[in-house]
Amino acid sequence: MHSNENIEVIVVKNPEEGGQRAFEIIKEELENGLKVIGLPTGGTPETMYTALRNSALDFSEVVAINLDEYIGLEADHPQSYKYFMDEHLLNTKPFKETYIPNGMAPEAEETARYNQILQEHPIDLQILGIGTNAHLGFNEPGSSFDSLTEKVELSEETVEANKRYFESVADVPKYAYSMGLASITSADKILLLAYGENKADAIAEAINGPVTEEVPASILQNHENVTFILDEGAASKL
Ligand code: GLP
Repeated sequence: MHSNENIEVIVVKNPEEGGQRAFEIIKEELENGLKVIGLPTGGTPETMYTALRNSALDFSEVVAINLDEYIGLEADHPQSYKYFMDEHLLNTKPFKETYIPNGMAPEAEETARYNQILQEHPIDLQILGIGTNAHLGFNEPGSSFDSLTEKVELSEETVEANKRYFESVADVPKYAYSMGLASITSADKILLLAYGENKADAIAEAINGPVTEEVPASILQNHENVTFILDEGAASKL
């Protein structure tokens, strides 16, 4: 399997069970005084959000901070991450405060604003998905491990992977604002979810490969408290 003591790997049968396990971890953290949670978008966390929406958990004292947002999409664009979060969680569950980068705001202003928010609200629990190229948020291969919130360019592989949500590949935004790898790994605890064989290489490299900026998720090997929830496909190369 793997030899990294800081990393716990939980293998589940399917995304529904994965979402349920993630829900249970969040519930436990909430009982232990969770104040700030970092949240992802994408197909992967959908079952977790369903479990959260259908639960009686109370987030009214919790601050939610999202990882990233496409540049150039208005908040009410159906593929904006703001829209995704409202639909999948925030319209149903009230939080104390919620933050997501504003994809329409100018770069210098928006990155400074977001880094200030992160400084004021240290993340207790960061939930993550992972790209097929092992990106975290939108930190593509080559991103500095020291990065804070930045404007980032999507790799070709990511544009390809995300085109399924858009009418054509030309409609996929090419830039995003993303929390950086230093911002992400400053969280006390990290929970990464991945399902499907197309994530198996990224997972194997993240957990067992060399720690290198060419594999953004390999930075997690340097973190003290990381849990991966994987289905059998995503875990198949461990
Ligand atoms: C997207 C997001 C990531 C996400 C990843 C995987 O581009 N920026 O935060 O983890 O790609 O997405 P999915 O869960 O749909 O496979």
